[in-house]
Amino acid sequence: MSGIAFVPTMGALHAGHQSLIRRAREVSDQVVVSIFINPLQFESAEDLAKYPRQPERDSELALSAGATDIWTPTIDEIYPPGVIEKISAGELGNRYEGASRPDHFDGVLTVVDRLFAHVKPRYAIFGEKDFQQLTIINSWVKRAKIPVEIIAGETVRDSDGLALSSRNVRLTLEDREIALAIPSALRAALTARSVSAGRELLQRAHGFTLDYFDFVDEESMQPQAEMNSAGRFIVAGWVNQIRLLDNMAMAATS
Ligand code: PAF
Repeated sequence: MSGIAFVPTMGALHAGHQSLIRRAREVSDQVVVSIFINPLQFESAEDLAKYPRQPERDSELALSAGATDIWTPTIDEIYPPGVIEKISAGELGNRYEGASRPDHFDGVLTVVDRLFAHVKPRYAIFGEKDFQQLTIINSWVKRAKIPVEIIAGETVRDSDGLALSSRNVRLTLEDREIALAIPSALRAALTARSVSAGRELLQRAHGFTLDYFDFVDEESMQPQAEMNSAGRFIVAGWVNQIRLLDNMAMAATS
């Protein structure tokens, strides 16, 4: 098991990150976890300021899951003074999350490229929960011939079905009840093999503002009319101004 397995994070770690770290430990004895809140991928200073921060707990959680090194770079280490040349996520970065958060994926690719340059990993693990991010990273690694094997980590859910996310800590109990419409809608869509079954459930959910609910091809992120096993339902929306996203694969049920 040679070569570093790398789990890049923005901190606010939870059991979902821990499962990525455990996955990393399956492929390497050397697991580097980075904690860096990347300003380039936030659309507003307010959103960046609200991002949860818990550095001591992050270290405990990372180490107990099997991290061997925790790296918390400074802003100057990642972005030395000067012009930042951004990496474009291209067309894939303009849809869905990218339509609501312009430049978000360019910011993600730019930081991942710089993190990779420092860590020089053989493997990097990214969660399926941020499915469009995973697709964009896979496509960039192929296109730019980056010598890193990308490993997808499964989404971890709480017992009520809500996908784990660093943003969940901002949900009140009432918000959380509303947010449960997301996994319900995904399951409804999978069962009915129908986008409208999920979309309509969320359009009716009181307190939930739907951004998108669609069925897309996993590589192209293009909407698909036919429900096939290479596709996935994806969803995003807001509860009390907190943006939540989730997805479920058709392959899991077919
Ligand atoms: O998924 C995340 O937490 C971030 O987008 C990442 C990959 C660490 C880049 O900042």
